[in-house]
Amino acid sequence: MPPTEAEGLGDSFYPFLGNGGYDAVHYEIDLDVDPAANTISALTSITAQATKDLEAFNLDLSGLEVHSVTVDGAHAEFWRSGHELTVQPASPLAAGSQFETEVAYSGSPEPLDDPGVPFAKMGWIHRDGVVYTASEPSGAMTWFPANNHPTDKATFEIQVTVPEGLVAAATGLLISETTESGETTSVWRMDDPMATYLAAVYIGDFERIDHGPLYDGGPITRDYLPRDAPAEMAQALSVTPDVIAFLEERLGPYPFDAYGTIVMPFPLGFALENQTLSIHGPATIGPGIIAHEAAHQWLGNSVSPDDWSEIWMNEGFATYLHLMFEAEHFGADFNDAMTQVHAWLSAEGIGPPRGIEIQDLFGASVYYRGAATLHALRLRIGDDTFYEILRTHYDRSAGGTTNTDEFLGIVEEFTGSDAVALVESWLYDETVPAFP
Ligand code: TRP
Ligand code: ZN
Repeated sequence: MPPTEAEGLGDSFYPFLGNGGYDAVHYEIDLDVDPAANTISALTSITAQATKDLEAFNLDLSGLEVHSVTVDGAHAEFWRSGHELTVQPASPLAAGSQFETEVAYSGSPEPLDDPGVPFAKMGWIHRDGVVYTASEPSGAMTWFPANNHPTDKATFEIQVTVPEGLVAAATGLLISETTESGETTSVWRMDDPMATYLAAVYIGDFERIDHGPLYDGGPITRDYLPRDAPAEMAQALSVTPDVIAFLEERLGPYPFDAYGTIVMPFPLGFALENQTLSIHGPATIGPGIIAHEAAHQWLGNSVSPDDWSEIWMNEGFATYLHLMFEAEHFGADFNDAMTQVHAWLSAEGIGPPRGIEIQDLFGASVYYRGAATLHALRLRIGDDTFYEILRTHYDRSAGGTTNTDEFLGIVEEFTGSDAVALVESWLYDETVPAFP
């Protein structure tokens, strides 16, 4: 096997996710799915730019059988070891050149265990005749080969073929749907940068409910419900336009071409902010969690963490905004709500959201102490400056990635070092600080 660039990007929790030496620009994922057997026959093409001279490079792919790999149409050698797929093109790639890799593969996708998500299997899930993907952080590689880290975002086109009668959905804007010889093929396009963990496919007996553009020139909105869903489910989702309006007022225009929710026909116990099409379980949908996944479209999806240890930048911010929406929606006093969160954090001795262990990636420190961190900042500096900071934080990194230090830089820019010290105590001190 030839020497390759780094078999990982050095993430502090997932050092072997992603790969060095190139930059993915566009994915085309073409899946032919037999949902009854839970098998796929797939072709993924990855347009990428070499950032160095490359004799070989790696992709991340877990399980499945790889049949062939080509680079710019020419046969390429490949090797597999764990989730590393090493590819050696017929001739070396020059730094700066663009190249297209096609991977033909098939099999039964197996979800994986991710140490950061002890509460769920990751990636491609087959359950009760339904297929869905839930990949944050590492599961995308269970269904397509990729540079599997949020620092390498790309545009996507996802094509799914299923037996006629079933409905497939995916992240992005639906651009075509055709039925021929008993099979339905649908194509979705994501023209804005997307992290691999936010790409998703869903297959089942769903009904698509089109609501059209949210407002003139706004995102297309559509939801997918189980075909026999009770009316209360559509009713629960009808809060979505209010949620988007609430978030646009605080963060700026919705970042993508489409938004909506897909509800599974079985309990999930979690929701996930897949880009433009969040997944929910039927028992848990309500204004708070709908607002939470919607808020991630700005904070998490458009602005993503540059390292998985920065996860409070997703979850703390989304939680803060969802608590705010919930209070407004139910006519509760938001400051009282945050005072209760503070009392709970103190009583439970919830530690800081930075310096966590991997199994606490999606734990209370990250969500609730993360949210309270933002509230403490707001109490110290006042609403106007707080919202300027929030908006600047979003604007500066929209379509890319960020981290805590960049956020602290913005806090410093608008307020001076006192407020930075306050935020740092919330993020790093073992004990829960008092609210200002
Ligand atoms: N980001 C999800 C949220 O909205 C939580 C989450 C993380 C998750 N990884 C997941 C949910 C994997 C389902 C599967 O808070
Ligand atoms: Zn979240």
